[in-house]
Amino acid sequence: MTALADIDTPAVLVDLDVAEANIDRFQDYCNLHGFRNRPHIKTHKLPVLARRQIKVGAVGVTCQKISEAEAMIAEGGVDDVLLTYNVVGSAKLQRLHALAGRVTLSVVADSAAVVAGLGTEFAGASQPLSVLVECDTGAHRCGVATPTAARDLATIIDRTDGVRFGGLMTYPPVGSTGAVQGFMSEAIELCEAAGLTVERITSGGAPDMWRAHEAPLVTEYRTGTYVYNDRSLVERGVCTWDDCALTVLATVVSVPDTGRAIIDAGTKVLTSDLLGLDGHGHVLGRPDIRIDQLSEEHGRLVCDGPIGLSVGDRVRIVPNHCCVVSNMMDAVVAVRGTRVEGDLAIAARGQVW
Ligand SMILES: Cc1ncc(COP(=O)(O)O)c(C=O)c1O
Repeated sequence: MTALADIDTPAVLVDLDVAEANIDRFQDYCNLHGFRNRPHIKTHKLPVLARRQIKVGAVGVTCQKISEAEAMIAEGGVDDVLLTYNVVGSAKLQRLHALAGRVTLSVVADSAAVVAGLGTEFAGASQPLSVLVECDTGAHRCGVATPTAARDLATIIDRTDGVRFGGLMTYPPVGSTGAVQGFMSEAIELCEAAGLTVERITSGGAPDMWRAHEAPLVTEYRTGTYVYNDRSLVERGVCTWDDCALTVLATVVSVPDTGRAIIDAGTKVLTSDLLGLDGHGHVLGRPDIRIDQLSEEHGRLVCDGPIGLSVGDRVRIVPNHCCVVSNMMDAVVAVRGTRVEGDLAIAARGQVW
């Protein structure tokens, strides 16, 4: 059996014991508060973890891209997908149509133009496609800006052949449970006054996952990061270092100075995503060290006193943002504590279409 010490570096390790405990804990929270749990697979991109999420109670998965969904269906046995992305262009619309024949599928739209594309593709389909209106509750990415605009787009969906109004979706900024509740309450009232039933309200985001119940109008919650957790969530007080399932294992390749060491993990593994934090990750057991600089294949570790590392030493790093790290490697190494289980191919890696 391979030991941790035999794993070549840089490597991305996933502790399955920790990931499974994270999955179970949030499912329990959803059960307690009556939410349907629809995890976002962009964090792990692994069929084995999607299967686990569904086994313990998730109603299906969230994907951003059609190709991610295809990978999860083929290898993860997933049969219910929400695609939280505007599908634009005939190539994608045709693939979406093919997907609709294989699973229970719903998508979002935030404009009449997106709905028109969906309507053209699905006109005459045996089952109308469920389309949710994406609402901007403060993140200012996609989404209609007001409850009135949500009602207006819902009406357009309702009148479009091939599709049906499936509810409201939002991806709020951190700390916005109140804004979500306010927006949705007004939008429901307007939709109902227009004769439309809002059968589903889906919201998400790991930073606020333990506060999701503060927006009780939400019926479904989507989080991705909860499965692994990361430095950004520890820094926000959402979890502890012990809850972090994904770590980067790296080797010290140079100690040019007493206060500086260089590791074999740079942006090609840790990514350059700072998520607003100082430094590029947390070295487990060494809170005094800062990863202050990355180039593609080098990471620079610095500290105020002697760094106490030698060439050949290994460090384990909790990255700032685990989801983007998952997309960097062909496989992660599955471990349970110090036991190495083996490689898991990241099935939905690089699926951007
Ligand atoms: C639309 C949508 N829903 C849900 C999520 C999950 O968020 P988190 O990773 O914070 O759990 C994301 C993350 O990017 C998202 O874009």
